[in-house]
Amino acid sequence: MSDALRRVTPVVRLAPAKLNLTLAIVGRRGDGFHSLHSVMVPLGLADRLALAPAFAPSDRLHVTGDRVPDLGPADRNLVVRAIGAARAACRARGVDAQLPGLAARLEKRIPVAAGLGGGSSDAAAAVDGALAAWAVEDALAPADRATVAAGLGSDVPFFLAGGWALVEGRGERVEPLPTPRGPAPAVLLVTPGLAVSTAAVFLAYASGIRPGPGAALASSRHVAGELAAGMTAAKFAERAGILAVANDLALATAAVVPALVAFRRALGRLLGRPVGQSGSGPTLWVLYPSIGAAEAAATRVREALAADDLVAPGARPPFVAATRIIVGDAGISAEPSRPAETTAQGGT
Ligand code: C5P
Repeated sequence: MSDALRRVTPVVRLAPAKLNLTLAIVGRRGDGFHSLHSVMVPLGLADRLALAPAFAPSDRLHVTGDRVPDLGPADRNLVVRAIGAARAACRARGVDAQLPGLAARLEKRIPVAAGLGGGSSDAAAAVDGALAAWAVEDALAPADRATVAAGLGSDVPFFLAGGWALVEGRGERVEPLPTPRGPAPAVLLVTPGLAVSTAAVFLAYASGIRPGPGAALASSRHVAGELAAGMTAAKFAERAGILAVANDLALATAAVVPALVAFRRALGRLLGRPVGQSGSGPTLWVLYPSIGAAEAAATRVREALAADDLVAPGARPPFVAATRIIVGDAGISAEPSRPAETTAQGGT
C-alpha cells in the first residue's frame, strides 16, 4: 500500500437540505450581494457524500441518485472545489503532511437549484469530510473553517455550523438558535421539476421586483426572537402563516417562474394550509406537526398530481417529499462507512 493510501481514512457524511423559514433582504452590499436576515433550519432530507482515496493526485467526483442531475464539469463542482479549498487552507496553516487526492461519491437526494441548499450542504460536508479523511481536523480553527465555507457560497457557513440558526450578512454570520421544545415538526416539500437560478432571482429582485420593505424583516426578527427566548413546538406550529409569507424573494421568483404563483395557490387550496417558498425557490413547503401528517399530505399531493387535479410547472414531474425538520444535534453528520462500500471504492 502506498504512502498516500495509508493517509486517507474513508469517511461518509450526510449533507442535509435546508429550509428558509423566513428570508428578509435588508440591503445590498458593496460587493453586489444582498444582506439577509433569515431563520434557517436543517432537514432530514440529505445527500450522502463518501470520500475515499483517489489513487491519483487530483480529486474526483462521481454522482449517483434517482434523478442524477447535470452538475457540470467536475472541477467546477462545489464538492471538488470544497476539497481543494480545505487542502489550500490546511497548507496556509502550515500542514506539510501529504493531503492526497480524494475520490468523492455523491448520492444526490436533494433536488438541484431548488432553494434547498443542496450544493452548499455538499460543499460543507466535503470540507468537514476531507479534514477527517486526512486526519487533520485540528489543523483549522472554527474561524478558518468558517472562512473556507464563506468562500464557497453564501449558504455554506450555515451548513458547517449545523442546527437552527439566524443567518445574516451575505450568509457568513450564523447565530445558533435553540430548537422548539417538543416533537420535531415536519414539512412537506414540493419542488416543481425545473431549475431556478439563485442569481437570476436576485437579479429580478435587484431590478425592483420586490415587496415593500420591512414586512418580512419584522416577521423574521419576531420569530428569531421567539426562538431565542425558547419556544414550544405547539407555539412554533402556530407561526406557520407568518412564516409562509416572510420571503422577500417570492415576487422575484414568480417573475422568473410565473406559473409558480398559480401552483402555490392551488397547493394551498388542496391542503388548506399556508404554503411557503424556500430561499429563491422553486421549492414550496407546508409545515406539519408530525412526519405522519406530512406523509399523508405528500400522498394527497401525489394523488392530485396523478389525477391532473393539480398541475405543476416544469418539464419534469415535481419532487414531493415529507421530511422532519431536524431538532437537537443537527448538521453534517458522520455515518459509519459500510465495509462493502469501502471495498468497492478501494477498487476504483
Ligand atoms: O453565494 P451563492 O453562490 O449561493 O449565490 C448565488 C448568487 O445569488 C450570487 O451570485 C448572487 O447573485 C446572489 N446572492 C445575493 N446575495 C446573497 C446570496 C446570493 O445577491 N446573500
